[in-house]
Amino acid sequence: MATFCRSLTLLGRPTSSLVYRLTAARQCSSGGPYEYILVDKKGENKNVGFIQLNRPKALNALCDGLMKEMGKALDDFEADSQVGAIVITGSDRAFAAGADIKEMQNRTFQECYGGNFLSHWNRVSTVKKPVIAAVNGYALGGGCELAMMCDIIYAGEKAQFGQPEILLGTIPGAGGTQRLTRAVGKSLAMEMVLTGDRISAQEAKQSGLVSKVFPIDQLVPEAVKCGEKIAAHSKIISAMAKEAVNAAFELTLAEGNRLEKRLFHATFATEDRKEGMTAFVEKRKANFQDQ
Ligand code: HXC
Repeated sequence: MATFCRSLTLLGRPTSSLVYRLTAARQCSSGGPYEYILVDKKGENKNVGFIQLNRPKALNALCDGLMKEMGKALDDFEADSQVGAIVITGSDRAFAAGADIKEMQNRTFQECYGGNFLSHWNRVSTVKKPVIAAVNGYALGGGCELAMMCDIIYAGEKAQFGQPEILLGTIPGAGGTQRLTRAVGKSLAMEMVLTGDRISAQEAKQSGLVSKVFPIDQLVPEAVKCGEKIAAHSKIISAMAKEAVNAAFELTLAEGNRLEKRLFHATFATEDRKEGMTAFVEKRKANFQDQ
């Protein structure tokens, strides 16, 4: 099987569904190693799930196989009780240069619509554990959309964000028009989507798209550090906090406040809420059990 897959790969990129099924069945069923991503656990307590996009020759273009592997890795981290936060990153040159244009080039409307093209990308935005995008280099099209599906975006100082789909005769299809507009406001989102122009890390920080900018070599360590800080808290309470913040994008203020109040009340059903407040009163560090 390995020789067969290798010879197919030599004939061209292993993007056909047959090759993907062969390689994925062989490589993913054991939980890795993967073909398009590197997966690890980082931090002193190995409590930060780490996914690195690994298609350097294609600037981490997000082919179907890559996104399927990402979904599998996220499922594994979600089920791993040691992991309290997840970092997604790319290379110094590219977080991801978008969905794979070569894979999309000959697709028909019928295939896209009938096959619900890209629906599995949503997995990134449905993970309960906090996800941090660490963006160096290009985050374009689907790459920018992938970063925006994460909960926190940190950028390296040479990062560039953009939605250049208009230059390809299409529009963003994985939340770009929606999440970008909510993050940076209408005028800048319109400008980026309608011109295809990119913004720098500094502009992204100024406009609220990213929360912090770091020198390139410090970006990933800082993202892992942030992940470790989050992972030290109660996982169940972090999930509630994430759910409440995300609700701000979906609900009216009154509905959002009501949901927040219910979730706040729900924290009183947990051992960790009791432990957190007891630890404060007893002037010691809380020892959360995720209960
Ligand atoms: C497939 C890609 C790719 C992509 C780059 N490559 N982006 N392959 N899909 N999105 C490949 C190139 O074909 C080339 O491989 C190699 O990566 C290096 O790219 P170059 O163009 O030679 O590098 P450079 O001149 O440095 O330019 C970098 C770049 C440019 C500015 C990022 O590659 C670029 O504009 N890429 C496309 C960006 C884009 O339009 N993204 C949106 C995609 S649509 P070969 O083997 O050919 O030399 C999208 C839709 C989202 O994301 C909808 C929902 C998900």
